[in-house]
Amino acid sequence: MAQLDKYSAKIQELTEHGNLRVLRNGVPEGMINLSSNDYLGLQHNEELYEEFLDEISIHNYQFTAASSRLLSGNSVEYHTLELLLQQLYKREAALVFNSGYHANCGILPALAGARDLIVADKLVHASIIDGMRLGQAQYERFRHLDYEHLDAILTEHAHNYENVFIVTESIFSMDGDRANLIDLVRLKNKYNALLYVDEAHAVGVYGQSGLGLCEEMNIVQDCDFIVGTFGKALASVGAYVICNDLFKTYLINHARTLIFTTALPPINLAWTHFILNQLHTFTKQRKALVNLSGQFAKLLGVTAQSHIIPYIIGDNKDAIACSEHLQNNGFFVLPIRYPTVAKNTARLRFSLQATHSINNLQKIVSLL
Ligand SMILES: Cc1ncc(COP(=O)(O)O)c(C=O)c1O
Repeated sequence: MAQLDKYSAKIQELTEHGNLRVLRNGVPEGMINLSSNDYLGLQHNEELYEEFLDEISIHNYQFTAASSRLLSGNSVEYHTLELLLQQLYKREAALVFNSGYHANCGILPALAGARDLIVADKLVHASIIDGMRLGQAQYERFRHLDYEHLDAILTEHAHNYENVFIVTESIFSMDGDRANLIDLVRLKNKYNALLYVDEAHAVGVYGQSGLGLCEEMNIVQDCDFIVGTFGKALASVGAYVICNDLFKTYLINHARTLIFTTALPPINLAWTHFILNQLHTFTKQRKALVNLSGQFAKLLGVTAQSHIIPYIIGDNKDAIACSEHLQNNGFFVLPIRYPTVAKNTARLRFSLQATHSINNLQKIVSLL
């Protein structure tokens, strides 16, 4: 038998520090969920499901792709979905991945080689960090949202590399704050770099037609790569990158997370297509979300830059106690701890949905 003590010691240590993760069986019925990324509140929209199911009954979609995209798994639904994305963004190409994790882990190592440099915001998501670690490129991190620091890194290093990738999220997943995309476009142009923006938490929520913060800031055409996910506001599964034709072809040939995995089932692609097609109509939900975020932040006494509102507690055990208190009162909001966020910044991450009511948010504030 192999040595098991080191694993049980680690679990013991996690337990002692209030840092042990457990899997829960869904959200108890009747609880208000503030820990989901279902920002537009589409996950439980029965009308949408019915409309979709009525539409698909005649088509007989399948529940598996049964092979990778490069073999027989590249169903026609991929083609129509990528075409729709391309048209919505008015860009040359779109490429769908199985998830945002697959996209970030696959794109960066495929495109950034040993003679390239990646410079990423300090708080980018784990999937981007893993993508940087998996590849051959050098990488540097700039202080969160500190573009003077980014500028200094680029001044010092950019000329030593073939290609430089500037990588950021648009709305940061755990802090809910925003990148200054206009500044990033300026720096991209100054250093002739490639700009990579992960819009996982902005797609559906920002922009006139819900395409994200790049649309809202009118810089879709300036980004070399826009990554979006379907598993959050769009109530589906999968992810995509918007880029040019050349990069798409290159990624189909080099992105290992696209090549060596079973493709998404046609039924899921069809559902994503169905939702994406009506994304521009969800303006009521987007407005509700903005209003709720503003009101909730005011009640909490913090400033909100988005629908993700962190309530920093610091200590893991205090954050757990606070979360349990809210759960006992009908509000499902989980503590976020290290390593998802920095040590001693454990927090409740309030993830608002267009369907939340201000009355419930007021109750949360009084419970806190
Ligand atoms: C910024 C960011 N990018 C990518 C992902 C991964 O997306 P997915 O859940 O589709 O794997 C997440 C997930 O939380 C995220 O927050």
